[in-house]
Amino acid sequence: VAPAPVRAALRGTIGELPVGTTLRQTVVVPTYNERDNVEALLERLAAALPADDTEIIFVDDSTDDTPAVIASLQETCPIPVTVLHREHATGGLGGAVVEGMRAARGEWIVVMDADLQHPPSVVPTLIAAGRRDGADLVVGSRYAGGGSSRAGLDGGYRRLVSGGSTLFTKVIFRNNLIQVSDPMSGLFAIRTSSLETEELRPLGYKILLELIVRNRPGRIVEVPYAFQPRHAGESKSSLSEGFRFLKHLAILRFGAKRARMLVFAMIGVSGLLPNQAALWFLHAVLGVHYVPAAIVANLVAVGWNFALTDTLLYRDRRQHRSFAGRFSRFFVLGNADLLLRVPLLALLVSGLHIGVLIANLLTLLISFVVRFLILDGLIYKA
Ligand code: GDD
Ligand code: MN
Repeated sequence: VAPAPVRAALRGTIGELPVGTTLRQTVVVPTYNERDNVEALLERLAAALPADDTEIIFVDDSTDDTPAVIASLQETCPIPVTVLHREHATGGLGGAVVEGMRAARGEWIVVMDADLQHPPSVVPTLIAAGRRDGADLVVGSRYAGGGSSRAGLDGGYRRLVSGGSTLFTKVIFRNNLIQVSDPMSGLFAIRTSSLETEELRPLGYKILLELIVRNRPGRIVEVPYAFQPRHAGESKSSLSEGFRFLKHLAILRFGAKRARMLVFAMIGVSGLLPNQAALWFLHAVLGVHYVPAAIVANLVAVGWNFALTDTLLYRDRRQHRSFAGRFSRFFVLGNADLLLRVPLLALLVSGLHIGVLIANLLTLLISFVVRFLILDGLIYKA
């Protein structure tokens, strides 16, 4: 992290640029610990783009001295360079890109990585293609004819993951993505006039997907490019980034609340396992009567569900209430479930003459929806 005076000076450079000017292009580069890449990146961008019609904005979440390294390069780089260092890295890579977009003054905004996996020499080609074809969005594609990913995607494993998740994503969003061969690309150019940053809810790496789904740019074209090996350092992607991607997909596809309900349903289904196991152990192994055994099994399942719900589903909403507060409410809700289900079951079976198994399933479904609504609207109220 750059010391405060350096950061203030960096921010100050925005003010020095003529107010209200419109440039041809703004290059937005998200950086997370890329100190050994920024010099080569700036050199190659300067060689590829006209200095008087371009600006470069780094949006930085680094824990190393990347912002200071960039600051030391500002003098020698002919293109005006700005660094926005974020204190709170909300939204990860995508959040950083959107923040850079908000500050951009170019007619086009080009987004690219700092590690030279995206060749700077392609940037003018993206803009030229967009202008020639009257496009709103130009996607740099590893998969379009002439593009390639072999060099950058080291090993068959990463190629498999990349190809598999791209196919999966395209199936889920068929209409939106029908014409895009590489919706996961981190290299693209968007016409600023067709950008609506207010609509965006960035979450992690796939900012292009976010943009296509929520902003629905009219005309999209693709430019093939060869994905390069990383220049220095290592990828910031991780397993937790993979989970964040799945969460992002679910939210984009179903909306935030229905995505949470889906995860809640999956947790609920997973709770059947400890429930049955506990019931079997108490009843079959220890010989406990089935009613108290079922009640204890229900307690076990409630504990299981709480652990998963609290850590996976509502991790970012826990600060609103203490652990004891969350646990006790969840516990009451999970067992109050029995108070709702038992009379409901009696009503369905004796009153409406529905079969016991079907009726039981219905009570589980009804209780599931009721519990989710209470959980989502009251216990973990945002
Ligand atoms: N500001 C900020 N905050 N920048 C970040 C963060 C973050 O939390 N995480 C990563 N970055 C920056 C990195 O410093 C780098 O400049 C760029 O985002 C890409 O990160 P990498 O870690 O190099 O990503 P990758 O090579 O695994 O994947 C890239 O290429 C894929 C194929 O084009 C990304 O662009 C993917 O989104 C893309 O699918
Ligand atoms: Mn990379």
